Amino acid sequence: MDTRFTTMFGLELPLAGFSRSPGVVAEVSAAGGLGVLAATPYVPDELDRHLTWIAERCDGAPFGVDLLVPPGPMTGVASGPLPVTHVDFVRELLAEHGIASPGLGQLGHGATTTTSLSADGVEALLDVTFAHRPALVANALGPAPARLIERAHAEDVPVAALIGSSTHARRQLDLGVDVLVAQGTEAGGHTGSIATMVLTPEIVDLAGDVPVLAAGGIADGRQLAASLALGAAGAWCGSVWLASEEDITPTTVKRRLLRAGSGDTVRSTARTGKPARQLRSAWHDAWESADAPPVLPMNQQLLLSKDAWALIEAAAEEGRDVDELTSFFVGQVVGRMTEIRPTRQIVHDMVAGCVEAIGGLGGRR
Ligand SMILES: Cc1cc2nc3c(=O)[nH]c(=O)nc-3n(C[C@H](O)[C@H](O)[C@H](O)COP(=O)(O)O)c2cc1C
Repeated sequence: MDTRFTTMFGLELPLAGFSRSPGVVAEVSAAGGLGVLAATPYVPDELDRHLTWIAERCDGAPFGVDLLVPPGPMTGVASGPLPVTHVDFVRELLAEHGIASPGLGQLGHGATTTTSLSADGVEALLDVTFAHRPALVANALGPAPARLIERAHAEDVPVAALIGSSTHARRQLDLGVDVLVAQGTEAGGHTGSIATMVLTPEIVDLAGDVPVLAAGGIADGRQLAASLALGAAGAWCGSVWLASEEDITPTTVKRRLLRAGSGDTVRSTARTGKPARQLRSAWHDAWESADAPPVLPMNQQLLLSKDAWALIEAAAEEGRDVDELTSFFVGQVVGRMTEIRPTRQIVHDMVAGCVEAIGGLGGRR
C-alpha cells in the first residue's frame, strides 16, 4: 500500500502506532508501520534505554518519538503546594473508596511528571531523542513550537504535529511541519471537539502536498480503509495498542478497558486540566459534581491527579476493589477492545481488514 506517508518514511504500511510501551513501538515498526514512542512518561535515562532497545529490535526499520514541547518559555509549572481545598477534595474521594492518602499533594509527583514539565527536562528529552536519529518527531498537545521544528530540520528529522482543527493545521503548515495528524474527538488522550470523519477531509484539503494521517476512532481494517477514503495518507492509532500483549498498562486497568463500551469514555479536564478523553470513572463524576472545586490549570491538576492515580493503581495491584475509580486515557474504540492480542496480530488484522474492505467497495452492501 503506497501513500505519500509510506514513501516519505520507506514503510510497507500506511500505519503509525503511538504508544508509551517500547514493545508496541518496536513491533509496529518491525511489522512495516511506524512505531512512535511517547517520550513524556520517561526521564532522559529511561528514554535513552528504551530507544536503544527499540532500535535493536527494529533492526533498521524506522521509528518515531512523540514529545510534549511547550510553545513558549515554560511558565506556570506548579512548584508551590497544591491548594488545600483541592487536596482535601481528592483525599475525601479516595477515602470513600477505601484509599487512605496521607501526604497527597506532597508525594513528589514522580520524576517523570516533573521532567516532562520543566524546561531543562524537555531539553534533556530532546537531546536524547535526536541522539537516536528517529525517523520522525511528533509534538503532542498544541502547536509544535518553531524551536522544535528548527532543531529537527537542522538534524534532518521530519516533524509531525497533532491538530484538532483547521486553525491549528494552518498554523502548523505555516511553521513548516512535514506531517499533519488530524486527530478527531473520538481519540484517547488530549483531544478537540471535531470528529475524525469531519476533520480529516477538511485538513487533507488544506494540507496540499503535506501528508495527513487520520487519528481517532481507528482500530480495525474498515476504519483504516475509511481513513484512506477520506484522503488521508494513513492512520495514526493510539488506543488499539492498549489491548496488546506488549502494552505496559497495569492488568487491572486493561481488564476495565476490555469490559468498557464505546459510550464509557468522557472528554474531561479532571485528570490533566485540559480536555482529554479517558474512561469515565467515579473520579470524573466527582469532579463534575456541584460541590467539586474548579479544576486546576493543566500542570497543577496533573500533579494532583498523578499522586491520586499512583494510590489508586497501588490499591488495585493489592487486589482491593477500586474498579469504580479505575480509569485511563482511551478513545471511543475501547468498545471494540474485547481481547488481548499480540501487536503484530493487531497490525496484521487491521491491514487484512483494510484490503478486504477496499476490495469489497463497489460490491452490493
Ligand atoms: C493512552 C493514551 C495516551 C496518549 N498520550 C499522548 C501523548 O502523550 N502525546 C500525544 O501526542 N498523543 C497522545 N495520545 C493520542 C494519540 O497520539 C493518538 O492521537 C490517539 O490515540 C488516536 O486516537 P485513538 O485513541 O482513537 O487511536 C494518547 C492516546 C492514548 C490512548
